[in-house]
Amino acid sequence: MRYTPMKKIRVIYTSQAAKHFSQRDLLDLLHDCRAYNSLDSIYGFLYYKDNIFFQVLEGETKSVEGLLDRIEKDPRHFNLKIYFKKSVENYLFSNWSMGCIEFNNPRLSLIPSLKGELESKENIERIINNLPEITSLLISNPELNLQ
Ligand SMILES: Cc1cc2nc3c(=O)[nH]c(=O)nc-3n(C[C@H](O)[C@H](O)[C@H](O)COP(=O)(O)O)c2cc1C
Repeated sequence: MRYTPMKKIRVIYTSQAAKHFSQRDLLDLLHDCRAYNSLDSIYGFLYYKDNIFFQVLEGETKSVEGLLDRIEKDPRHFNLKIYFKKSVENYLFSNWSMGCIEFNNPRLSLIPSLKGELESKENIERIINNLPEITSLLISNPELNLQ
């Protein structure tokens, strides 16, 4: 029987936090995300600014769709809008079970595409177009990744 590789998918969405997330809240969320995602070989990136989440999820289609179902039901956020959902050849975030940029970090200016409001469709599209830049900056500045 021929081996058929699993389809890889990338999903990108934004959502609104139901309450303000402190750095502590974000760390707690990340702790859980990273544990679940490592088990399911899901990779990604989470950014939080002014009560808006921006998340990239990558993995095998079935795993990512299952996760998205769970995330959509999570009462910690609402108004989830999917901006990107496509099959991909390669992952951009395979180094992180969930990378996260600390939103208070003054060195955030290293990533020009992260400037600006997450409420603006234009800014979100700019971030999406600059994801490879975010990946390489995270690799060369690992201290930017919230741990
Ligand atoms: C903004 C946001 C992003 C999340 N990202 C992930 C994630 O990457 N992986 C994950 O397993 N859970 C994530 N969660 C948590 C899920 O919604 C869910 O609580 C978790 O997967 C456990 O599933 P369960 O509550 O059905 O047991 C996220 C939640 C929020 C609010």
